This record gives sequence, C-alpha cells and structure tokens, in this order.
Amino acid sequence: MSRSLLAIESSCDETSAAVVCDGRVASLIISSQTEHGIWGGVVPELASRAHLAAIAPVVTAALEQAHTEFSALQAVAVTTEPGLVGSLLVGLNAAKGIAVALGIPLISVHHIEAHLLSVLIDNPDMQFPYLGLVVSGGHTLLYDVKGIGRYELLAATRDDAAGEAFDKGAKLLGLGYPGGPAIDRIAADGNPQAHAFPRGFVKTSQNDFSFSGLKTSLRYFLRDNYHGILPVGRELADICASYQEAIVDTLVTKTMRVAASRGLGRIAVVGGVAANSRLRASMREECERQGLEYHTVRPVHGTDNAAMIGIAGWHKFTAGETAPLTTTAKASMIRAERKGGNTAA
Ligand code: KG4
Ligand code: ZN
Repeated sequence: MSRSLLAIESSCDETSAAVVCDGRVASLIISSQTEHGIWGGVVPELASRAHLAAIAPVVTAALEQAHTEFSALQAVAVTTEPGLVGSLLVGLNAAKGIAVALGIPLISVHHIEAHLLSVLIDNPDMQFPYLGLVVSGGHTLLYDVKGIGRYELLAATRDDAAGEAFDKGAKLLGLGYPGGPAIDRIAADGNPQAHAFPRGFVKTSQNDFSFSGLKTSLRYFLRDNYHGILPVGRELADICASYQEAIVDTLVTKTMRVAASRGLGRIAVVGGVAANSRLRASMREECERQGLEYHTVRPVHGTDNAAMIGIAGWHKFTAGETAPLTTTAKASMIRAERKGGNTAA
C-alpha cells in the first residue's frame, strides 16, 4: 500500500502545500502573495493575514491535485524555522490541527534543510556529498551536504543576501519588487562588462559573502552619472547586466573556491535566485571547465514551495523522526526576517 504525506510551507510570503507519495511529489500548490509589491518588500503583518486566508484552499487543492484525501494521509510535515514567526505559525497550527484530527504524526522541517534537499525532487538518485549553494531573498549559504541530516555550514553572507542584492538594486533602478526577475530580463540585452561593479568578497574571511558594498556602489554610480534621473534603454540594460555579473561572479568564484578546498566534486544551486539565467549559465560553464557535476532546481522548486518540505519531511518520516504537538515556530537563523527590500537599503 502506498504511503502519503501532506507538506505545508508558510515561512515568508508563499503559502504552499504538497502531497508526497512514496517519496515522490504527487502535487504542489503555491499561492504567492502579491500585496507586498507596493511596499517594496514583505510586510510581516500582511503576510500572516494572507497565509490565513490561503491556507485551507491551498491544502485542499494539493489533496485534489494528488487525487487523494485527508483520510489517506500518514503524516503532516511543516516548516517550523526559520522565517517570519507570524507566518510560520499559520502553517504550523494548520498542520497541528490536521495531525490531531487525523491522529497522524507531525514532522518538523527546517526551511534551509528543505532548500538543500530540493535538488532531490527531480534527481531522487543524486549522490552525496555535494556542495549546496542556497541563494534566495533571505539567504546566501554554502553547505557541505554529507547526507540526509548531515550538513556543515561553510559560508554565509555578512550582510545582504544575493536575492536582496537583486531586489535592492532593482529598487534603486525603479524596477519594482521582486527585482531579481526584472534585472535578469533586462540584463539579457546588456553588456556585462560595461561597468565594473565591486565583487562581494569579504577580505577578512575566505568564505563569507558580502553584497551591501555592491548595492552602495550602484547608488553612488547612479547619483554621479544620472543625478536622480533613472537610466532607460541600452544604458539600463548595460547597468543591469554589469550589476548582475558582479553578483553572479561572486557566487560562482566563491563556490568553486570552496568546492576545490573541500575536494567536493558535485554542486547544487538552490533557492529563488537559482532561477537567474546568467547564474545558471555561468555555473554550468565553470563546472564543465573544472570537471564538476552541476545540479540545480526548476524555478518552481527554487522559490519557497512545499514540495521541498515534503521531500525533507519524507526522509524524517521514514526515519521515525516525528515532532511533539508542543513544537513551536522559530525566527532564528541567518537573517530570515530580512527578506526583500523593505529593510532600509
Ligand atoms: O527562495 P525565495 O522565494 O525567497 C526566500 O526564501 O528568501 O527567493 C526570492 C528571491 C527574490 O529576492 C527574487 O528577486 C529572487 O529570488 N529571484 C531572482 C530571480 N527570480 C527570483 N533573482 C535573480 N534572477 C531571477 N531570475
Ligand atoms: Zn526559502
């Protein structure tokens, strides 16, 4: 008989549910909140309210898409950290309610572990160890993924995350939020060598990333060259391409350096920024050049989604790692609260 697990993700501004059946994703529903756009970043109070409105229909839709029902579930997995506490609590309380009503176990999933394992959604037979680069709106992290549940943090960002660098740069260029997809699109027509923006290497630490200097240099560049008027056309495309190149170059160079120093021959790029076309191309090229295996996620599995929670949850479920109903949500971990450009740029 097949075994099914319901997974729920609500750590930031996506309300998502998925069903995992015998270790494979059977359905995935993502409801993305659009109400934050005019504020230039995620507003926690609005996010919690939007999760409350979306959670029941999203869960119902995930069950329907998987052609299953509540009574067929064996467990419910949910993100418990890190994230916006008010947002996490909506998913956690829904999961607890379902677990109690059905008499099935609750499984607590760490959001970053789920991102790291998201490459397994489409590559279930992928081998360990691999170097996992998590690049999203809230995180820029490098992990040695030695196996399920065995992760060693090797590098983190000292300030802005890669996604924040895209979002804050886009804000300075008047491109709206989230800015990553807009910069990616406009950069396609630009020259990445047109302007030399700084690369975010932290001098005192070999491993850590830093992106706030890049954003500041864009601000001064615009002030000195455009005097308050926003660039357009070819000039905008060149600035976007050069700014994007600085972020991508930093990520690729550092990842390759760490892979070499750790002797890791397999790389996985995950998170929302993994959708960036230049990052994908550049990472692939460099991995081919250096003879490393390169893996990444489809964009739908890069941004926050419950399929990755389901895959991480499935491994815990089969290992018997259940969580008590007293489990609470935690904001903890690196700068999870700082997603988006709403924090002072
Ligand atoms: O993983 P995600 O949904 O958020 C967090 O968990 O934090 O990623 C969202 C981030 C945003 O900063 C967005 O601008 C960025 O991913 N992003 C991109 C692209 N698509 C999304 N950045 C660059 N290029 C893209 N194509
Ligand atoms: Zn995330």
